[in-house]
Amino acid sequence: MDKGRLQKKRVSLAGMHLERTSSVALHQQIAAHMRGGILSGVFPAGTQFLGSREVARELGCSRTVVLSAWDILYAEGYLESTPRGGVSVASVQQAHAGVVPAPSSASAGIAGPISDRWQSLLADTYDTNWKSDFAPGAPDISNFPFKEWARLLRATSQNPRNQECLDLPAAGLSELRHEIANFLGSVRGLVCTPKEVVVTSGTSSALDLCSRMILDHGDEVWVEEPGFVEARWSLTAAGARLVPVPVDDKGLCVAEGIKRAPNARLIVVTPSHQYPLGVSMGLERRLELLEWANRNNVWIIEDDYNSEFRHQDSMIASLRSLDREQRVIYLGTFSKIMMPSLRLGYIVAPERFVDIFTRGRARIDVHSSGIGQMALAEFMREGHLLRHLRRMRKVYADRQTTLMDAIKALMPDDLTVSPSATGLHLVAFFTDRLKARISDAEAARKLKQAGLHVQPLSQNYLETPTRQGLVFGYGRLQSEDAFRLISRMTEVLGSVPPDQIKK
Ligand SMILES: Cc1ncc(COP(=O)(O)O)c(C=O)c1O
Repeated sequence: MDKGRLQKKRVSLAGMHLERTSSVALHQQIAAHMRGGILSGVFPAGTQFLGSREVARELGCSRTVVLSAWDILYAEGYLESTPRGGVSVASVQQAHAGVVPAPSSASAGIAGPISDRWQSLLADTYDTNWKSDFAPGAPDISNFPFKEWARLLRATSQNPRNQECLDLPAAGLSELRHEIANFLGSVRGLVCTPKEVVVTSGTSSALDLCSRMILDHGDEVWVEEPGFVEARWSLTAAGARLVPVPVDDKGLCVAEGIKRAPNARLIVVTPSHQYPLGVSMGLERRLELLEWANRNNVWIIEDDYNSEFRHQDSMIASLRSLDREQRVIYLGTFSKIMMPSLRLGYIVAPERFVDIFTRGRARIDVHSSGIGQMALAEFMREGHLLRHLRRMRKVYADRQTTLMDAIKALMPDDLTVSPSATGLHLVAFFTDRLKARISDAEAARKLKQAGLHVQPLSQNYLETPTRQGLVFGYGRLQSEDAFRLISRMTEVLGSVPPDQIKK
């Protein structure tokens, strides 16, 4: 193929069909189409596309939608910008070429062995579970009491009386349900009985179970915008129609949700520590949400994400604690306070739901690993979890402070940060100055090339992103590395540290 000739001819996307009723956002459909073309060789390295305005006109969408699609592909390394402001296909590694992600239903109509829903889900190449100093939500396990944990794992697996190795009850080991109820009472001020607890394989598994059991195909679900991408996967897999509802500094904008989807069946929220923005939903909003959901018979899933690591004394009561009409299904996980690979979490729900969820779980994968449940129940009973949590709260609070200090000192004109009341991550928003230079997706791509892996905020939007920023996890960040890493970031992004600004 004559590369020189290819580079001159600019390619149109006019042949692509945008599926406007799909649950896959328009920019993701465009990205999936282009990615599929690149990987299958239809758009070889060097191919230049028409300008964003022309493509938007061809596809009948806004230019911002096209630019958002390109941002995704920049971040993934499929596209690069040309000196004249256009985009062209970067050279894709040969190894990559064999791994053709399943196209979205919108992207090609290629028949595959899986459903349209799953094709579009797999086409979403959201980056997750990566190793980095800044991986959002990754806990530090270097201080974890592995000696005690290993002792209990050994003891439980060596005890032949443990249910004679038959299946456990689908709702979970009763001792563990009991410990979880106690734990929530002391750590979260949430009063519940062991009978209201169902053990799951983490929040993702709980979301999957609830979505499958609550939703019918095409049901509308409010999701936070920006929000937790993995939650959207479970909902989409269950056939839901996702309705993004904006989040402001008081949390989910309930009035906007009512306007956008008054007939929703379910609402999924992270009120303690909104993912990714980190805001805590104000009490007024919580009451407004509960009141509307009660009046309209809508279920609420409360993902009480990261509430355990609060860096301040008081915390607003959970939705579940404010709920008087058994409307809220509360989810928690051991992924952050212990480790993600444990794959254990829980649902707290009114007893009538517990019975239903338990029967449902029994028909899917029966229950979560028994050995893990037994060891965890003992680990909690002996007090190791509470001790670990107390230690880690202080460690994470210090890391958050150091990270904020480094960003404020080295990138004051480009990023703005404010403290997070709890959790393991914070968002640094782009100032107008940085926005004028680069998008967050492009910034994240450049940083990744330089060995600094940070998540662009725009990845968490279903619709066109309204804010630009970087999501910094600090769970694994060693405080002594913070200034060095942020300083490296200033070099990559061309930020000028204050002491070098020419007066
Ligand atoms: C908002 C939110 N909820 C829950 C979780 C935990 O999910 P799991 O319990 O499946 O590990 C995460 C993980 O990062 C998250 O970001």
